Amino acid sequence: MKTFTLNDGCSIPALGLGTWKSPADEVTQAVKSALEVGYQHIDAAWIYQNEAAVGKGIHESVKGGAVSRDQIFVTSKLWNTFHQAESVEVGCRETLRELGLDYLDLYLMHWPIAFKPGRAQYKAPEDFYPLSEVPLSETFEAMVALREKGLVKSVGVSNFTQSKLEKLIAETGVVPAVNQVELHPYHPQTELLDYCQAQGILLTAYSPLGSGDRPDSMKQKDEPPLLQNEQVKAIAEQENLSPAQLLIAWAIDRGTVVIPKSTNAQRIAENFAAASHDLSEQARSAIDKLDIQYRYVSPDTWFFPGITYEGEGFWA
Ligand code: A2P
Repeated sequence: MKTFTLNDGCSIPALGLGTWKSPADEVTQAVKSALEVGYQHIDAAWIYQNEAAVGKGIHESVKGGAVSRDQIFVTSKLWNTFHQAESVEVGCRETLRELGLDYLDLYLMHWPIAFKPGRAQYKAPEDFYPLSEVPLSETFEAMVALREKGLVKSVGVSNFTQSKLEKLIAETGVVPAVNQVELHPYHPQTELLDYCQAQGILLTAYSPLGSGDRPDSMKQKDEPPLLQNEQVKAIAEQENLSPAQLLIAWAIDRGTVVIPKSTNAQRIAENFAAASHDLSEQARSAIDKLDIQYRYVSPDTWFFPGITYEGEGFWA
C-alpha cells in the first residue's frame, strides 16, 4: 500500500475505508472485510454515530490475528459541539471510548464551526458560537495538547479553505498535518491542493465517488452522479478499471489520501485493488479535463446572513 509522510514524520496509508453513512449494523463487518483484504486505514468521526461498531470491527480483526493495532491508521474527528478548549479532550475521550482505543493516529477538527454544547438542533444563529468567542485557534491548540498527552499522534483539520488555513497557521504557529475536504473530478480544488502541497499539508479526499448514498435532504434536484458520467466510464474502460477504481487511482495519483466508503465486501476489495493501479498520463489528463463543477457536501443549513457562518464567505 502506498503511503504518504505527514509533516510531523508520521506515515499515512493512501487509501482508507470511509465510514460516513455506514449503518452501525453493517460497518463492523465492513471494517473486518477491509482489514482482511489489506486496508490499513480507517476513517471515522464522532458524528457518524457508529464509532462503537467501527471499533468492534477493529478489535475483532486484531483479535483474529488479521492485523495488529499498530498496523492500522485510525482517524477520527472532533465534533462541532466540542470546540471550547475545555471540551476538546472530552470529545476526544468519547471517541476513544467508543472505538475502544487508547490513541488515535490522526484527529481532525471536523468543521470550522463551533456549536453550543447540548443543542438538539443547529438551525438558528443562537445555536452557534461566533468564531470571535470560540476561535478556531483555541480549538486547534487544545487538539495539539492532546498530541502532547499521547491521546493522538497527528492533528489536522477538515473542510478548511486556504484563507482559514492561513489564519490558523498564523495564529497558532502549527501547520496542520492534514486537511480533509471534498475532492473528486467535479470538485478538484486544484488551488487548495497546490497551496497545501507547498505548505506540507496533506489533503484527504472525502466523497471521492460522489457520495450517491447521502440522504435525500442533502441532495439537490438533478445533481450529476459522478459514477454515471459517460466520460468517466469510458476512461475507466480504457484503463481496465471500474469507474470507482478510476476515481480512487486518480485521487492517489494527484498526491491525496482517499477514503471511499463502502459496506459491501466485494466493492471494498475492488476499491483496494485500485490503490495499486498506476494511472496512465492520458487517463489523468482526460479526467482533469472533465468540465463539470459540482460540490456534493455543503453545510447550507448552518448558513445565516450576518453571522460568522455565512454561505459564500464560508467557502471563500
Ligand atoms: P456501497 O456502500 O453499497 O458499496 P463516497 O465514498 O463518495 O461517499 O461514495 C459512497 C457510495 O459509493 C456508496 O453508495 C457506496 O455504496 C458506493 N460505492 C463504493 N464503492 C463502490 C464501487 N466500487 N462501485 C460502485 N459504487 C461504490
